[in-house]
Amino acid sequence: MRISILTIFPEMVRAPLEESILKRAREKGLIRTEVVNIRDFATDRHQSTDDYPYGGGPGMVMKPEPIYAALRAVCAGGPPPNQEVPGRAILLTSPAGEVFNQAMAHELAQYTHLVIICGHYEGVDDRVRELAHAREISIGDYVLTGGELPALVITDAVSRLVPGVLGGEESAAEESFSEGLLEYPQYTRPFEFEGLQVPAVLLSGHHEEVRRWRRRQSLERTLARRPELLEQAHLTEEDKRFLAEIQSRTKEAELLAAGEDTTGGV
Ligand SMILES: C[S@@+](CC[C@H](N)C(=O)[O-])C[C@H]1O[C@@H](n2cnc3c(N)ncnc32)[C@H](O)[C@@H]1O
Repeated sequence: MRISILTIFPEMVRAPLEESILKRAREKGLIRTEVVNIRDFATDRHQSTDDYPYGGGPGMVMKPEPIYAALRAVCAGGPPPNQEVPGRAILLTSPAGEVFNQAMAHELAQYTHLVIICGHYEGVDDRVRELAHAREISIGDYVLTGGELPALVITDAVSRLVPGVLGGEESAAEESFSEGLLEYPQYTRPFEFEGLQVPAVLLSGHHEEVRRWRRRQSLERTLARRPELLEQAHLTEEDKRFLAEIQSRTKEAELLAAGEDTTGGV
């Protein structure tokens, strides 16, 4: 997979691509990243990449010409940016975009070329989005100063799903969101730390019991922290029974705490 990141702050993006799993993936040739400085495509004397907004208002807006010229350059050798091509996606980072999640990361991991545009100031002249059929992506409901961190978030989440990027020891199959649930808690040595012991079942060597414990922990955490995820999760009949059990236990505890009789008045 090729990932092209278009930015006016290339140094903000480079270092994270040169560490850990992303570095290994690049060295193995599983992903190819290029960081393109939009300023190199500015043609005026001051190499400007932004200008005042039409209609007035605060801040500056990123000019379309340098970004579009940078897009042309990264698409060279293939169809131009205004032509939609299977296998290539042009993404525009924006707090007003679709919210990025694990399902979208899986979807984007199917492409062979991702182009990510980093905005700044008040954002990017909207004609870039329109011309390049760019998909606007937000990494969450908050506003950052620029699109570099979102571009790295997307690059990281997508790259680790490219086959071969994660070694056998770092499996994407069981982690949070993989089945629509949050992951169970993890432990490593020592067995006891500051008086806290690892749950005994994890030392039992009984694979089926470990599986059931982890599944129940996942369900319990998801119910407590992100109950809305359960609506889309793949749940077995056993999962549903377990969730019903937790809910009735919680209800009972709430009633007890409120000083009510849970025995049916006997
Ligand atoms: C200060 S923001 C612009 C905010 C814009 N005026 C608005 O209200 O939607 C500058 C740039 O940072 C990036 N950015 C900020 N927050 C983001 C988020 N939550 N997700 C993705 N990109 C974001 C985008 O590239 C955006 O163009």
